[in-house]
Amino acid sequence: MKLLIKNALLITAEMSRFASVLCEDGKIQRIAKQIPDSEADEIIDADGQYLFPGGIDPHVHMHLPSPAGFSADDFYSGSKAALMGGTTTLIDFVTPTKHQTLLEALKQRKKEASDSLVDYSFHISPVQWTVTTEKEIKACIEQEGITSFKIYMAYKKSIGLPDDIIEKVLETVGKYGGLVSSHCELGDVIDAARTSFIKEGRTAPKYHPLSRPSKLEAEAVDHLIEMAHQADCSVYIVHVSTAESIPFIKKARENGQKVFAETCPQYLLLDDSKYLGSFRETAAYVMSPPLRKKQDNQGLWNALEKGLIQTIGTDHCPFTMTQKERGISDFTKIPNGAGGVEHRIALLYTFGVLEEQISLHEFVALISTNAAKIFGLFPQKGSLQEGADADLIIWNPRVENIISAKRDHSNTDTSIFEGFKTKGKVSYVIAKGKVVVRDTELVEQNCKGQFLKRSKPDMRI
Ligand code: URP
Ligand code: ZN
Repeated sequence: MKLLIKNALLITAEMSRFASVLCEDGKIQRIAKQIPDSEADEIIDADGQYLFPGGIDPHVHMHLPSPAGFSADDFYSGSKAALMGGTTTLIDFVTPTKHQTLLEALKQRKKEASDSLVDYSFHISPVQWTVTTEKEIKACIEQEGITSFKIYMAYKKSIGLPDDIIEKVLETVGKYGGLVSSHCELGDVIDAARTSFIKEGRTAPKYHPLSRPSKLEAEAVDHLIEMAHQADCSVYIVHVSTAESIPFIKKARENGQKVFAETCPQYLLLDDSKYLGSFRETAAYVMSPPLRKKQDNQGLWNALEKGLIQTIGTDHCPFTMTQKERGISDFTKIPNGAGGVEHRIALLYTFGVLEEQISLHEFVALISTNAAKIFGLFPQKGSLQEGADADLIIWNPRVENIISAKRDHSNTDTSIFEGFKTKGKVSYVIAKGKVVVRDTELVEQNCKGQFLKRSKPDMRI
C-alpha cells in the first residue's frame, strides 16, 4: 500500500519546500519535487495545505490513579483525542508503588497502554532508593529503551523525593547517559501552606494557587539546576508555568549546562483569574503548578521565541466534574489536572504562529522535533526525512474551530479551553503511512499504537 501526498508545503524545524511525499511500509520512502501518481495506490492532493511531522506530546497522564479514581482518559480515549488533533506519539509515565521495582511497574504500564491508538513511550519515576535502583535505572536505559526519569520535588507526602535521593537519581542517570525530568515546586513549603489554609477554613479552589506561589517553582528550578550541575546530569523541567523560572534556565543554558524546558498551552493562554468564582466554575483549573498571572503568559511566549523553552506538552490529565467534587469542601482533595491533548497543536498554531509569537519552523520544533531529539526518538519521529516513520499532519490553515468539551474526544465533561476559537486544523493525520484521521473522522482500523524503545537524548538543541 503506497500513499502519495502531493502539492503540500513541507515545513520542518529548519526549512520549507513544496514537494511530494511517498509513504510505504510505514516509512517515508521518497520526497521529491514530483512523484508520478502511477507510483501510488492512494493519493492525497494537499494543495494549499501544510505538511508537518506528526505531533509528539511528551507529557500526558492516561489512566492515572488518584484518590478520586483514575483520570478520565484511558490510553484508548486519550490517544483518540491526541490523533484528532494531530498528535501521533505520546510519552506518558510509569509511577511504581513502593513495593514494585521500576521494571515490574514498566511491565504493568505497558499492559495498560496496549490499546493506545498511537505510538507511545514512558518516563519512569524512581519513588524511593533501594540497593537495586542503580541496576534498574541502567536496565531501563540499556535494555528497555526508557531513557528519561521523572522526579517530583512536590507531592512530598506521596511520590515526591527528598534532596538526597534526587542527588542519587541525578548521579546515576547522568552516569548512564539518560535524562532526568522534574516537577519543580518546593513541596515541603507547599504542604505546610495547604495545611494552614485548611485549618483556617480557607477551603475553596482559589486557595490552591495561593498555596503554591510562583517563587516556589522558581526556587525549585534553581535548586534542581544546581544539583544537576553537581551530578553532571541533563535535566528537563516539565510544565514551566511562571516567567520567574526563566532566568535560571537561561543562565544554566548560557553556561553550557544541558537544561531543557517544557511549558503547556494553559500556562501560555490562561491566568489565575480563572480561580475567581464558584466551585463548579473554578475546580477544572485546579492543576499543579497552578495558573499564574497574565505577565507570566507573555514571559513564557518570550522564552519560546528565544529558544529557552524547547517543547510544548499538555500534562493531559482530565477529571470529570464529579471527580473534582471530591474536593468541594477542601481544595486539597480536588484531583489535580486538566485535559488538552486534542488542542495543543491548534492552540499553538493560532496563538503562536498566527499571533506572530513564533515562526512556523519554531512551531514544528515545539510540537514535535525537539521532543523527538530530547527523548531519543529522532529522526524516526519528529522529522520529514526519507526512512523516517511516516507520521504526518496535513494542516488546513483556513479551517476554524470553537473548542467545546461536548465535541471533544476526551472522556470528560469540562474543558479549560471551552469557547476558545482556533484557526488551522488537521485535514488528514497519517500514522506509519496510513490515513488515521480524514477530516473529522477517525479511521480506526488503521490505528495501531506500539511501544517505542528510545535512544539516549540528543543534546544538540
Ligand atoms: O495537576 C497536574 N499537573 N496533574 C497531573 C499530575 C501531575 O502532577 O503531573
Ligand atoms: Zn504531569
